[in-house]
Amino acid sequence: MRFKLIMSVKFLMLLFAMMSLKPSSGISIIEDVVDIIKLIQEVSEGVQIVWNLIDNAPVDTSKLPIVLDKHGEVMRRMDELNDHIQHSEKLQAEYFAMTIETLKHEFHTESLLTHKLSEIEDMTKVIAKHYRYMTEVQNFTDKLDAFTLNNFAEWCVKPGSNSLGYLTDALHSNIFGEPEDKSESSLFAQMMANYEKDESQICTAERSPQQYAYDLFTKLMLTELKAYLMMEFSWMTLRESGKGNFTLEMSLMRRNYQERITHSKQVLLDVMTRIGRVYWRCDPMNWQSKLGVSYDQVTRLLQGYVENEVNLNNDSSCFQTCEDYTDVRSQGCIANELCTKQPRCEGRLHSCQFIGADMTVCQSNATSNITSSRRYDYIQFNNGRRLGQDGIEVETVCATGGDLAESWSKWIFWRCNYCFCLCDEESLLSDRYFNLRDTLSDYQRNMVVTGARFVKAQRVFHLQLQQGELLPGGLVNQSSLAWIPLELYDVSNVDIRNGYDYHKLNYNSRAMDLDEIAVDNDTLVVTGARFHVLNNHLNLEVRFSTFNFTTGHLIRPDVDSIWLGNDWRKEHQDKPRQKLMLYDPQVSTKSALHSLPLSKDNQYMEFVSSSVDKDAAQSTVPFIDLQDVVPNPAVSLSGLGIYHKGRRGFGGFFAPKVVTYNFWEKLLAP
Ligand SMILES: *[C@@H]1O[C@H](CO)[C@@H](O)[C@H](O)[C@H]1NC(C)=O
Ligand SMILES: *[C@@H]1O[C@H](CO)[C@@H](O)[C@H](O)[C@H]1NC(C)=O
Ligand SMILES: *[C@@H]1O[C@H](CO)[C@@H](O)[C@H](O)[C@H]1NC(C)=O
Ligand SMILES: *[C@@H]1O[C@H](CO)[C@@H](O)[C@H](O)[C@H]1NC(C)=O
Ligand SMILES: *[C@@H]1O[C@H](CO)[C@@H](O)[C@H](O)[C@H]1NC(C)=O
Ligand SMILES: *[C@@H]1O[C@H](CO)[C@@H](O)[C@H](O)[C@H]1NC(C)=O
Ligand SMILES: *[C@@H]1O[C@H](CO)[C@@H](O)[C@H](O)[C@H]1NC(C)=O
Ligand SMILES: *[C@@H]1O[C@H](CO)[C@@H](O)[C@H](O)[C@H]1NC(C)=O
Repeated sequence: MRFKLIMSVKFLMLLFAMMSLKPSSGISIIEDVVDIIKLIQEVSEGVQIVWNLIDNAPVDTSKLPIVLDKHGEVMRRMDELNDHIQHSEKLQAEYFAMTIETLKHEFHTESLLTHKLSEIEDMTKVIAKHYRYMTEVQNFTDKLDAFTLNNFAEWCVKPGSNSLGYLTDALHSNIFGEPEDKSESSLFAQMMANYEKDESQICTAERSPQQYAYDLFTKLMLTELKAYLMMEFSWMTLRESGKGNFTLEMSLMRRNYQERITHSKQVLLDVMTRIGRVYWRCDPMNWQSKLGVSYDQVTRLLQGYVENEVNLNNDSSCFQTCEDYTDVRSQGCIANELCTKQPRCEGRLHSCQFIGADMTVCQSNATSNITSSRRYDYIQFNNGRRLGQDGIEVETVCATGGDLAESWSKWIFWRCNYCFCLCDEESLLSDRYFNLRDTLSDYQRNMVVTGARFVKAQRVFHLQLQQGELLPGGLVNQSSLAWIPLELYDVSNVDIRNGYDYHKLNYNSRAMDLDEIAVDNDTLVVTGARFHVLNNHLNLEVRFSTFNFTTGHLIRPDVDSIWLGNDWRKEHQDKPRQKLMLYDPQVSTKSALHSLPLSKDNQYMEFVSSSVDKDAAQSTVPFIDLQDVVPNPAVSLSGLGIYHKGRRGFGGFFAPKVVTYNFWEKLLAP
């Protein structure tokens, strides 16, 4: 049988792809990921072939010993195996920049974990050093004397506590524990648990925990493979130099190697089944000046607005208090008062309150872009309190001059006070629309959803989806990835309707349901998503279609697909949704700390105005994160979700998250 050229760096799925593709077409689906399982297999098979060559070689004392004949078949093949390991290592280093050294920095405290990692680092270095030596030796075998080579070989395989064999065993049990131990207690599992808990690690690595586990595993296995190749090389050398047959020793060494590999795969598999598959985006480096790029906002939904009580009722009376006006309209305008100098709130006024009698209102410059959705920069009360003072020096002069608003007395008994209300006004300046139309992947062309992001287009927020061609094993053709074009429309068009095409937020309907719609059923992948309005909340529904894992084809996606929402799940049917509150939220982008996911499944949160004190309630929070949420490499999905992230005291962001299809488990399973 012809020895098949080893192709070690193809993605896992090439295995499956080869059923439909000719290997000679040479299409590598994802060049970036090392298929370590395949590489392990290839090295083992390659070594076996080398031994067959040695065993079958006729005894010919006139020829060079095999290990010294670098042009001979045996050394050529050893070189080839070495090339593949080194190539994989290089690829992996490019794709997965994390080294054990940088990993150590990620653990903030001097812990047992850090200590163990240091040990592992040392052992890895020793193995790497010797491996380098071996490859150099192979280059210079002509000039090398047998003595040096034998010394090297003896170090590799001799019994004893500082040999390579011992080191490899120790390295393995340090990382993966002993086969009889629980896999949860292994360092590998601990590192993964640590990764899942620590957002700063996730942000650095930009990987779902499952992807991270696989990459880490690959890194560790490459060292294992190097050690194995060295030991095989050493036995060859020793046997060639007539030191003995070593049949027993070699079979022992191989058995240990096999046991280690089997055990590591088992630990990886255990970890994979327990670990999360959710991928979400961390904040960009700096939110400032990223409006419209990394984030956007609902504008003027409920905005701080100053109005005198006399204008809040039909009788121009001042019999009541500000707090009595909870849902009214601005009715009139008394001459020479603030209402003649500011744009009137044409919508309803909510939650009015008395803050102080006399004030200076600093209106925003309506022509300046950044502040265009604000009414006021700040409000300075004569009693010293200032709303929206945050970030503005007390001495700052108001760019637009500032307008006085002073309460007055009427009929001696009554005070006509200025109230601070929230204005719910639909206008061209108020972007408050969410698309309700279905977004479907092009399932006729076997496309599935691979990612999501929010986009604001023509004042409407859309959850845009990315699609890619489904391949066998739940994988996706990376060169077919594309964002599904938005269906754009103008909300002022008479044919475009609220409740059908879009949802218009208002005081009574402004909540976002926070759910993760994912399935455990591994015959289903995501092929669409939509928002609908459920109990006055924006609620996410996800479309799932069945596919054949072997062929990678969707099965009757036009008729057999299902839309699932959170309410469909049994465990949530009796549990009411929990409301998440924002208390006195500062503008989302002003947080110096990066956001953390703060919501759980089956919760909801309303769009509210920002803090009265910190921002004069001029902004609508949460903001919307616009970043692409596509894991690298892109794969098919088992779910989609919307969550809230941020920090206490800030408005935070709504953002999509994805749940990657669980194909590793299937591949690693024996
Ligand atoms: C071995 O030789 C090849 C070319 O003959 C060279 O590309 C390679 O870098 C050398 N490797 C080492 C480790 O010296
Ligand atoms: C060496 O091992 C081979 C089988 O691998 C066997 O045929 C041979 O007899 C052994 N030679 C010695 C000297 O033990
Ligand atoms: C003011 O009058 C309008 C129409 O005349 C009415 O719809 C509204 O309810 C009245 N508001 C109050 C606060 O009485
Ligand atoms: C408002 O902003 C524009 C553009 O930034 C500027 O040209 C104009 O002078 C500003 N007006 C006032 C009153 O500050
Ligand atoms: C506001 O921003 C838009 C798009 O970024 C730009 O086209 C426009 O000129 C800006 N207007 C002002 C007044 O700066
Ligand atoms: C991947 O997609 C590209 C572009 O759509 C196409 O040319 C190529 O044949 C696809 N590869 C596979 C393996 O389907
Ligand atoms: C998975 O979903 C398919 C299609 O909806 C269904 O036929 C199958 O019974 C489900 N399998 C499990 C284990 O729930
Ligand atoms: C998937 O497709 C293969 C090949 O066409 C077929 O043999 C197998 O029965 C299919 N599996 C399912 C679950 O439909």
